[in-house]
Amino acid sequence: MWRWADFLHASAAEAVTLGEGNTPLLHAPSLGLGDVWIKDESRNPTWSFKDRLGSGALTMAKKFGARVIASSSSGNAGAAAAAYAAKAGLPCVVFTFMGSAGPLVTQMRTYGTMLVKVADKADRWRLQTLGVAEFGWYPTSPFFGPVVGSNPYGMEAYKTIAYEIAEAFDWQPPDWCVLPVCYGDALFGVWKGFEELKALGWIDRTPRLAAAEVSGSLAAAMEGGDAMPPESPRNAPSIATSIGALQGTVQALDVLRKTRGAAVTIPDDDLRRWVLTLAAKEGIWPEASSAAPFAAIERLRAQGTIKPGERCVALLTAAGLKDPGPIETALPEPPLVQGGLKELMAALKSAYGFHG
Ligand SMILES: Cc1ncc(COP(=O)(O)O)c(C=O)c1O
Repeated sequence: MWRWADFLHASAAEAVTLGEGNTPLLHAPSLGLGDVWIKDESRNPTWSFKDRLGSGALTMAKKFGARVIASSSSGNAGAAAAAYAAKAGLPCVVFTFMGSAGPLVTQMRTYGTMLVKVADKADRWRLQTLGVAEFGWYPTSPFFGPVVGSNPYGMEAYKTIAYEIAEAFDWQPPDWCVLPVCYGDALFGVWKGFEELKALGWIDRTPRLAAAEVSGSLAAAMEGGDAMPPESPRNAPSIATSIGALQGTVQALDVLRKTRGAAVTIPDDDLRRWVLTLAAKEGIWPEASSAAPFAAIERLRAQGTIKPGERCVALLTAAGLKDPGPIETALPEPPLVQGGLKELMAALKSAYGFHG
């Protein structure tokens, strides 16, 4: 990522880096979604796009002489904060809540972070705010509401996703970029990256941006013309816990409006279906939240918002192993085979419908 240091806030020599960025952009014709490309951010060091944020934020934490890192996270941002704090040699406190996925919790703990659980989600921000105000802890995540975004140097680092996409297409940007959105940090960063390239004359337009969300907050604001995305309480918790916030941000809404973009609200059934489709057809297992852009493209194509010839890039933000629970239940039980070829073929047929 730091080969783009001239566009960032520190030099490559100063960077706290684990080799994040430069992720593959893979053509995915088998998905039946037209000209779709996957920007596979699950290949980053902690297996999510948050490593760009972690590297951007920890680099500045070090420059500023921060002594303790603090983050509130359902998992991915916390894992990145923990790993980059470890690399920087700084202690890290991460606040998480009871519903966070088990593997993500283990991941955060393994990097040696001081993980704290809270029963009431609001407490993580209250406690983090106290740590920031009283002790000068350096925040990498949001820590008060309504959210105004994560660490600004971390958000800046997301610009590099746009640079990499533009470069991969020989400076001919795609028509659409579709992202799973929680606070819209990456949405904003990607938009800013394209805008900078346009200002430099390296590209001639910024792609239209679409937000795939589970709360429906941005979709409601787009429809209702609100200045601020409303809180949008849902009936059931989503399996995409990483993007579970109930309220979008002003800057995310602004990006959608400026690019004539779209917001699509994705239900659990579509998330599960797209996780399994991506894994079985493209060999990539995304976290449930990262399946959201594919469900969004499907919807936007069906309603004619994305036109047949238009090229889309979907940001696949994190790897499936981070939260396998909700997907495991949708998979066929592997048969126990005893005997020879006859029994094996019978088992393959009954479990998987395989006829040889
Ligand atoms: C896997 C994954 N995808 C997407 C997001 C959305 O992040 P953002 O705040 O950049 O919209 C998050 C985290 O919030 C995440 O963990």
